[in-house]
Amino acid sequence: MPQNIYNEPIFFEGYKKLRLNDTGINGALEVPALRAALPDLAGLRVLDMGCGFGDFARYARSCGAASVTGLDVSENMIAEARVLTNDSQIEYLCGSIEEIAFPPESFDLVVSSMAIHYVNDYASMVLSVHACLPNKGQFIFSVEHPVCTANPVGWTKDADGNPLNWPLDNYQTEGIRHTKWFIDGVEKYHRTVETYVTTLLRAGFRLNHLGEPSPLPEFLNERPALSINLRRPAVLLLAAAKMAFDD
Ligand SMILES: C[S@@+](CC[C@H](N)C(=O)[O-])C[C@H]1O[C@@H](n2cnc3c(N)ncnc32)[C@H](O)[C@@H]1O
Repeated sequence: MPQNIYNEPIFFEGYKKLRLNDTGINGALEVPALRAALPDLAGLRVLDMGCGFGDFARYARSCGAASVTGLDVSENMIAEARVLTNDSQIEYLCGSIEEIAFPPESFDLVVSSMAIHYVNDYASMVLSVHACLPNKGQFIFSVEHPVCTANPVGWTKDADGNPLNWPLDNYQTEGIRHTKWFIDGVEKYHRTVETYVTTLLRAGFRLNHLGEPSPLPEFLNERPALSINLRRPAVLLLAAAKMAFDD
């Protein structure tokens, strides 16, 4: 069973406050980059893995998606998503990404924002996603960048507390990392960029886009503190499509 850290009350409240105030990298960087990588959503059947509060599900429907299935391991996140959603074409399921087993070709697009770095067995998950897409169906996801997950100790700082460097270490050693975010003991999984990409290719996906997005200029003007994200990549974004025989 995966860790269900978003269900821990202190973590949940901290994360909810962060997202409500949008003080993190999500609004300034990850959300715009992921949305820019999307195909036309009109008529698509969409699966969102690690859907959180359902922001993407509601966005996809506002862009004409036929239906959205939001999956999340946290009952708290799913409960909040249901409160925020009034749409019979959005279904929220409580379950883990590791266990997805939808019928073949159930979805035209599978999306995941900042959740797959919590998944241990990435290779099996990629095969399951491949199976639930038709040929040319797309898989688009973001994760915490491997430069950040490799050695998640945060910035080194000078005597005044100013960030000096992001210490990269143990990059080629994949596997679990224990980190602190709101609370101690948050488990994430580090994989190299090579593993993220080659696993997709081996499963029969074609890579359409690899992004390492920076905060958009308007957010940098508004919140100069976000410029720290110009010093190391915060997010890795991958967009792939299931290869058809004529590809
Ligand atoms: C950083 S939040 C992102 C939420 C949402 N995708 C967004 O961008 O607003 C990560 C989400 O992934 C969920 N999650 C983490 N590990 C999971 C797993 N193994 N299976 C399903 N959901 C998971 C968490 O409960 C949380 O809601």
